[in-house]
Amino acid sequence: MFMAYNFIMEKNYLELINQEKLPKHIAIIMDGNGRWAKNRKLNRSYGHKEGANRVVDIVRASSDLGIKVLSLFAFSTENWKRPLEEVNKIMFLIVAFIDKYIDELASNNVILKVLGHRDELPRNVKEKLDYAINKTENNTGMILNICLNYGSQLEILDACKEMIKEYKKSSEEDIDSLTVEDFSKHLYSDEYYNVDLMIRPSGELRLSNFLLFQAAYAELYFSNILWPDFIPNELYKAIYEFQNRNRRFGGL
Ligand code: IPE
Ligand code: IPE
Ligand code: MG
Repeated sequence: MFMAYNFIMEKNYLELINQEKLPKHIAIIMDGNGRWAKNRKLNRSYGHKEGANRVVDIVRASSDLGIKVLSLFAFSTENWKRPLEEVNKIMFLIVAFIDKYIDELASNNVILKVLGHRDELPRNVKEKLDYAINKTENNTGMILNICLNYGSQLEILDACKEMIKEYKKSSEEDIDSLTVEDFSKHLYSDEYYNVDLMIRPSGELRLSNFLLFQAAYAELYFSNILWPDFIPNELYKAIYEFQNRNRRFGGL
């Protein structure tokens, strides 16, 4: 009864969104799966499973809305510290997600990209990702970045390594004239690299090594909702709040 009351009272934020002022790039730290399961006295893996269902809902909602880039943090370079059983479950869910939804993504014109360090991923995951990337690479709609074995510090280091190799034989003048744009081309994904809206559910107030360079001027949105409860209306609410912020980029 109480739940139903809440449901009726919650505003429909989709109606309040200004289509002309959408954030181009939204990044989400999908956090809180474990706590969601714990609250229900379930194994953490149920939280990840329900979290995967929200991925589907949020991808559909973002693509329908006309968002250009959606970056989702699925597994960090630090998440290997977790028990093997949990790591395996997350990898399994990623493969299952692709198996079940790749046709829908492809027909909705979504371009799937994977950001992160490939080498450490299990072979079956890498193969499935390659298959999915291949299948959507000629699309022209929303870019969906799945950030998998992703760590921002490692990404920045990788970019530096690549540049050192590339410019090894360059003159000092050429190196001195390098720009932020030149650097950004060496990030895992250079398209629309600036994040406009960074969302973190679950009540934690940190970025946990996610898109640190790209979020330089991102509007940060923190919510106490746990990821498996993050229904599209929560996304619309974040976008609505974003549209009511005053972005100055250092100006007046
Ligand atoms: C986020 O949920 C999913 C991943 C990190 C893969 P968590 O598993 O971190 O959930 P909490 O933070 O323990 O609740
Ligand atoms: C961040 O969540 C990583 C992902 C959502 C994939 P964590 O649960 O790993 O972050 P911390 O440990 O709370 O900082
Ligand atoms: Mg967490």
